[in-house]
Amino acid sequence: MVRTLAVANQKGGVGKTTTVVSVASNVALAGFRTLLIDLDPQGNATTGVGVNPREVSTSSYNVLVQQLPLSGARIQNVLPNMDLVPATLDLAGAEVELVPMFSRELRLRSAISLVENEYDYIFVDCPPSLGMLTINSLAAVNEVIVPLQCEYYALEGLGQLLTNVQLIQEGLNPDLQVSAIVLVMFDARTRLAEQVAQEVREHFGELVLTTVVPRSIRLSEAPSYGQPIEIYDPASAGAAAYRAVTNEILEATKKLP
Ligand SMILES: Nc1ncnc2c1ncn2[C@@H]1O[C@H](COP(=O)(O)OP(=O)(O)O)[C@@H](O)[C@H]1O
Ligand SMILES: [Mg+2]
Repeated sequence: MVRTLAVANQKGGVGKTTTVVSVASNVALAGFRTLLIDLDPQGNATTGVGVNPREVSTSSYNVLVQQLPLSGARIQNVLPNMDLVPATLDLAGAEVELVPMFSRELRLRSAISLVENEYDYIFVDCPPSLGMLTINSLAAVNEVIVPLQCEYYALEGLGQLLTNVQLIQEGLNPDLQVSAIVLVMFDARTRLAEQVAQEVREHFGELVLTTVVPRSIRLSEAPSYGQPIEIYDPASAGAAAYRAVTNEILEATKKLP
């Protein structure tokens, strides 16, 4: 059975793309057939695995707005075992273009359903908003992973995200669940980071992964080389952290119904 996961948080710059690129590539490198779908018009997940959005002719935009089959929009083997559905800037228009369209919330879901038997893991990178693109992602997957930055305002907006998850669960996708919260960009030198981490664990208990991803220069450098951290610098602390995050997510398979 395929596992489908979206990485979501309506705040920008909180580590969504870094998390999805790192985990998806680790899963692929572990030998699982993996599809990464970029649903953020910024296309950072696309560049993160070495594809230039300006050089692609079909993308997630065509899938959502024109209902092009996913098989016609994906780029195969961007990494061993990993296919990519890239995102381009025109996806920004899809937020508005989708509004009057038939079954607008379920377009990604139906596109995925035709290829899901080809994969073990399908990951979706969400944009920093709770609009139509994020709704399409959450309607299409069974699991949401929420990265939280260990900073003062980390929990701000989380309630809104969880409410949306619940609404989508009730209205569109009963299988949807938040399967993990990942604490990222942890700065061990500040007491604040420690306090935030503790507060999040008190609130969310076992949902919070044991692994905490530290702030790491190497993680911020990797995208400019178009490489996931495990390829860019496997010896770095950031790579080690995301290997542990990936293991925790793979482990969760055993707990799923
Ligand atoms: N653990 C980390 N340490 C240092 N920099 C990070 C870390 N995680 C992400 N970054 C950097 O922070 C910025 C925002 O991260 P990104 O994953 O793009 O967030 P989002 O997708 O939520 O907007 C990027 O420049 C990224 O390289
Ligand atoms: Mg992003």
